[in-house]
Amino acid sequence: MYALCVFVLFCWASVSHSAPAPCENLLRPVESLSFRDVEGRWALVSVSAAVPKYLEKMKLSDSGSGVFANYTDSTKISFTRISSVGDSCQYMQTDVTLDESGLSDPQLNISMTLIQSSCQDCIVVRLDKSPDQPLRLYLFSRRREVDAKELEEFKAQAECLSMSEHHVMDPTKDHSTPLLCEKLVQPLEAFAPRHLEGRWALVAGSLNHSQSMGALRLRDSITMYFSNSRDPSTVSYTQINRFGDRCQHLHYNISVDGSSFSFDVGNRFDLNGSLYYTSCPDCLVMRWVVKSNKRHSVDLYLLSRRREVDLREMEEFRAQLKCFQLPVPVVMDPGEELCPEQPEC
Ligand SMILES: *[C@@H]1O[C@H](CO)[C@@H](O)[C@H](O)[C@H]1NC(C)=O
Ligand SMILES: *[C@@H]1O[C@H](CO)[C@@H](O)[C@H](O)[C@H]1NC(C)=O
Ligand SMILES: *[C@@H]1O[C@H](CO)[C@@H](O)[C@H](O)[C@H]1NC(C)=O
Ligand SMILES: *[C@@H]1O[C@H](CO)[C@@H](O)[C@H](O)[C@H]1NC(C)=O
Ligand SMILES: *[C@@H]1O[C@H](CO)[C@@H](O)[C@H](O)[C@H]1NC(C)=O
Repeated sequence: MYALCVFVLFCWASVSHSAPAPCENLLRPVESLSFRDVEGRWALVSVSAAVPKYLEKMKLSDSGSGVFANYTDSTKISFTRISSVGDSCQYMQTDVTLDESGLSDPQLNISMTLIQSSCQDCIVVRLDKSPDQPLRLYLFSRRREVDAKELEEFKAQAECLSMSEHHVMDPTKDHSTPLLCEKLVQPLEAFAPRHLEGRWALVAGSLNHSQSMGALRLRDSITMYFSNSRDPSTVSYTQINRFGDRCQHLHYNISVDGSSFSFDVGNRFDLNGSLYYTSCPDCLVMRWVVKSNKRHSVDLYLLSRRREVDLREMEEFRAQLKCFQLPVPVVMDPGEELCPEQPEC
């Protein structure tokens, strides 16, 4: 059976060689592109690149996928690329704009054009760094594997763009890590400030900034209080760090804007936060992006009404850190006392 498949593939390839379809036809872009054409999750089936070295990287990945999701704001959509290597998962999300001719990513300064394909549940995406300089061609499908004829068409398209080599993803490789990450890296769409109200203990945290990670290790316990004010768009935040028998109180006002919030810390730095998925019923997973002249870091914190979460919940948080490519967390000692809410002086 396998031999037959290979034979058919070979035959098709030799036929297409003797009578090559004109490149113009093969590279026709999809017209009047709309969000409906791209919406949802796609498995990466095959990829070609102008620079073969890029493919070496892809060969190390077990699986790849892309997810297009809509915002309530209709001018931009979210595009998430996920690839897994072993049990780790790499993830990148950017906002892209969609117009009739294609997608563009202003953050990465690339444009993506969808090319017509005879495969019904596929998209073929041509990625250009600058106009008419195709870097890569991707074949995505709702399936993890397409049939030989569809793959041959993709190869011919790549050849038309002078990309000779291509890599086909192994459809049998484990796909569970990216699926897990997809859930774990989703910001909560909107939350009621009521959800934040009250006292939380920091259970674990990780940052991609080693000095700050060191500073976190020096704290015996961290308590966070959120309290709502009359104005629903602002929340007051108190963080109390305990170092030995010393308690340090920090107060900030937070403004909440839909699914994210920002700390009012004057002009010293930028601190934005958002909440992420957790299956733990009395926890919060909070991601901070801190930007200043000296520091740009991403922090992920697990907070709970309890001092300690169960093993499964901690495993989920560790998996979430991997998805965000953050180091193993500092886990707070649940036996250490929390400071009182009010300073005792
Ligand atoms: C995204 O969703 C919003 C609200 O559901 C809708 O109004 C908008 O048209 C959608 N955008 C696209 C590009 O489909
Ligand atoms: C994006 O790339 C184009 C072409 O290389 C270049 O002209 C332009 O300045 C770049 N824009 C940004 C914001 O980097
Ligand atoms: C927070 O906002 C309130 C009301 O606007 C103000 O009185 C208070 O000083 C602010 N607190 C901080 C720490 O900025
Ligand atoms: C934080 O949010 C504010 C307002 O939405 C925005 O201007 C700023 O660029 C954001 N900062 C970061 C670090 O994302
Ligand atoms: C932390 O991660 C962000 C986002 O990936 C990156 O921009 C930043 O440079 C990183 N910071 C450090 C100190 O590595």
